[in-house]
Order: sequence, then C-alpha cells, then structure tokens
Amino acid sequence: MALELEDDGYAVQAEGLVKRYGPKRALDGFGLAVRKGTVHGLLGPNGAGKTTAVRILSTLVRLDEGRATVAGLDVVRRPRDVRARIGLTGQYAAVDEVLTGRQNLEMFGRLFHLGGKRARRRAGELLERFDLVDAADKGVGDYSGGMRRRLDLAASMILAPAVLFLDEPTTGLDPRSRGEVWESVRALVADGTTVLLTTQYLEEADKLASRITVIDQGRDIADDTPDGLKSTVGGDRIEVVVAERSDIPRAVKVVARVADGEPEADEAESRVHAQVTDRVAALTEVARTLQDEGVLVEDIGLRRPSLDDVFLRLTGHRTEPSASTGKTGTGKEAAA
Ligand SMILES: Nc1ncnc2c1ncn2[C@@H]1O[C@H](COP(=O)(O)OP(=O)(O)O)[C@@H](O)[C@H]1O
Ligand SMILES: [Mg+2]
Repeated sequence: MALELEDDGYAVQAEGLVKRYGPKRALDGFGLAVRKGTVHGLLGPNGAGKTTAVRILSTLVRLDEGRATVAGLDVVRRPRDVRARIGLTGQYAAVDEVLTGRQNLEMFGRLFHLGGKRARRRAGELLERFDLVDAADKGVGDYSGGMRRRLDLAASMILAPAVLFLDEPTTGLDPRSRGEVWESVRALVADGTTVLLTTQYLEEADKLASRITVIDQGRDIADDTPDGLKSTVGGDRIEVVVAERSDIPRAVKVVARVADGEPEADEAESRVHAQVTDRVAALTEVARTLQDEGVLVEDIGLRRPSLDDVFLRLTGHRTEPSASTGKTGTGKEAAA
C-alpha cells in the first residue's frame, strides 16, 4: 500500500513497520493512516502487535524498518517533538491510589511544569470534562474501575495533546464503566483530539471508531469502516434448536417472520438459524411464538458476529485455537 506520508489530512501515518524481538516479528510490515480529528480503531487479538505499534508511534520503542509520522513528524528523527504532541494511556491506570483525583491531576500538571496555579486550573477543567467533579476530593482507592480509567484519560490530556494513544482503555472493565469511558473518548474527539485506540473488542471499535485497521501477526490485514468490516461477516443471527426434528418446518416459519433472509435449517442438529436486524425483538418474538404454538425448544439464542468471525473471514484462522463461537443472549459477551 503506497501511502502519501506528506498528506496533512492525517494525524498518524505508518508504512512497512517491522519490529523484531529475537527471531519473533512483533510487527511485520504494519501500516496504517489515521485521519485528523477521528477515532481510529486498531483491532486485533492478544499478541497481534497492537501495543508494539502504539509504542513505536509514541516513540517508546524503536522501529527496525519502515517509516512513521505522528502529527506530521517523523518518530525516529524527531522523537522529542512527537512526544510533546501526544498523550498515551495504557491498559493499567498510572494514577496514585492514596491521592485524590484532584491531587493526582495537579501532580501530573506540575510534572509537566505547568506551575501550581495553572496545574490547579487544568485539573479543575479536566475533572469537569471527565465527569469527576463529585469524586474529585475522594481518594482514588475508592474509585470504580470506570472512574479510574477516566482519571487516567484526564491525566493524559493535561497538555491537550494533538494525538492520543489509548491502548485497550476498557479491557477488564464492566459494561457500565466501559460505556463511561466511551463517552469520555467521544468528548475528546469533539474537542479536536485525534485518537488511536487499540482494542480486542469488535463492539468497542464499532461504537467509537470511524475507521478500523485490523491487525494480525504484526500485519494490517484489513482497513475499513465498521459497517464495511461487519458486512464481510454478515449480521446477528438467531438460532433455535427444537426438541423434535419434526418441528423444524414450523420453526422455520416462525423464524422467517423476523429474519432478514431465508432461514437455514440444519436437520442433523434440529437447528434453525437466520440473520436478524433487531436482535432482541427477534429473540422475544420467536421465543413467544414457538411457545404459543407448543413447539418444544431445546435451545434458543442470538449469535453476534464476533472478532473471531471477522478473523476467520479475513485470515482463515480463529484468533485462538479453542475460541468460542460467541454465542450470546445471556449477557455473557459483556463480561470479558
Ligand atoms: N519486549 C518484548 N520482547 C519479546 N517479545 C515481545 C516483546 N513485546 C512484544 N513481544 C511479542 O510481540 C508480539 C506482539 O505483542 P504486542 O504488541 O504486545 O501485542 P498486543 O498488544 O496486540 O497484544 C507478541 O508475540 C509478543 O509476545
Ligand atoms: Mg497490548
């Protein structure tokens, strides 16, 4: 892929990045281009090379081959200038447990040589921006996971960076905290910051990113809008397993009412499945109708295209050898 590295519509550009650790290539010809003022998702399984890419772009790790610019500056030739224009938050918050949220932010401000008065003012602004005013004077030890990540985001925004790197900002958070962090990221971008966000969650990239680069084994294997990516794997599916094989035709009729296309029937497994748009309405409707009609159901659920499905489609292999098929309907997908 030939990138126009000088195009100033981009906040981050990289091509042909290679990073070796002994015989292992953490990056193996990786490239991406992040448009200014957007959230760009870098989506890939554990070990794909996401953190390595972020560390190279934020000048913490030296690349072996290739070329990258951040805010128009070459990361190898001008690391200091790059660092002055970026923020970085990792998977684990770097805030001090004993201090309050406000004290943490003031401390970071002074670390960045803002001076006491400006550090205090900036801390106040950021507490408001990240909806932490009520918790500002509580010890961080009492913060929820989502509050801590928001404080971590606030800390990375002390100097209002042009480009912010968020490395798996919601890994390990419960769904509610995850939603809070998403809100904060949206607010940042509304203010003009460009965000490169790494994630293992297709849903997260989908909700936040206007464009997604999929990384696997150190290489960018796809680059598209969320809709574009999803369309390569198809939509949500409803699946019904009937107790009596003779009920399959009735199940097909019921599922057909909510399906986008023709339902498919798997006789051997007494299974009927189809793609649906409104997943919850479809599940409710099918469950109720089958019950009303006296069809005995062994199992019913929704199957959402997962990262595994995207990977299977793109690479022919799953992200992990024993990865589950991403069956949902139990709320389990939100755990992780
Ligand atoms: N400092 C290192 N030394 C040796 N191997 C590393 C080092 N950092 C990363 N790797 C390897 O490079 C690959 C990519 O790692 P990483 O960038 O952390 O992936 P991700 O963030 O997508 O999980 C993995 O196989 C990892 O084991
Ligand atoms: Mg990582």
